[in-house]
Amino acid sequence: MPIDRTLASRKSPRAELPCEMERPFEYSAPNCRRKGTSSARNGSTRIGGQLQRQVMSHQSAPGIRDIPSVQATEFRQAMRNLAGGVAIVATGTAAERRGLTVSSVTSICMEPPCLLVGINAGSETHDGILASRSFGVSLLSTDQEDLALRFGGQGGAKGIHRFDTAPWKQGALDVPLLPNAFCALECVLYDHKVIGTHTIFIGRVIATCVGHGNPLINFRGALRTLLLD
Ligand SMILES: Cc1cc2nc3c(=O)[nH]c(=O)nc-3n(C[C@H](O)[C@H](O)[C@H](O)COP(=O)(O)O)c2cc1C
Repeated sequence: MPIDRTLASRKSPRAELPCEMERPFEYSAPNCRRKGTSSARNGSTRIGGQLQRQVMSHQSAPGIRDIPSVQATEFRQAMRNLAGGVAIVATGTAAERRGLTVSSVTSICMEPPCLLVGINAGSETHDGILASRSFGVSLLSTDQEDLALRFGGQGGAKGIHRFDTAPWKQGALDVPLLPNAFCALECVLYDHKVIGTHTIFIGRVIATCVGHGNPLINFRGALRTLLLD
């Protein structure tokens, strides 16, 4: 696949900082403007008022944490280029079942076998996982795109009603799983950490089931397929 030249040329200068003591507060970023960043008379780039004061007074180097973030829109545009599987994470039993579509499932380690998923704190499923301490991950196949959209909020179905259009089963941990998922995993909540608007849930995997079909892929704002041989 050809490299996106626009992205390549806009590589963040911060990625080249070897450590905060070597080049702590100045970098030249001719093509990248950020909110709160302006050019000083000597041509260097200032990074916020506090940092400049420290440059002027030759105080100790500020921490790398003080370098400003990119805007959310820029980050979103970049992350659109990360192709990834699509899953429904679900938890609870009977009328308490809750689920949502995610693309943030990532394997962490094999010992113990753990994965993570990032879920918005406003999601119904978020509090459901905290209550039940367990969740199921159903990786979707291409022919389950309608479920991906439904559990992604399209159509407005909420709560238990999201489960109406497909045959769900309860797994060994009594978590909701799609019997015909591309792959299903059951997790005991191992740990969780709040990061901004989302919580990272780490699940220790206690059971898996690999199915059939072609995986549903989220890439550049569209749901696609990856045709297997
Ligand atoms: C392809 C796709 C991937 C998504 N990935 C995530 C995700 O990783 N984390 C998240 O919190 N929401 C994600 N969402 C958004 C939620 O599925 C959506 O906001 C859903 O309506 C949340 O359920 P709620 O009604 O319980 O809030 C994704 C949506 C789609 C369509």
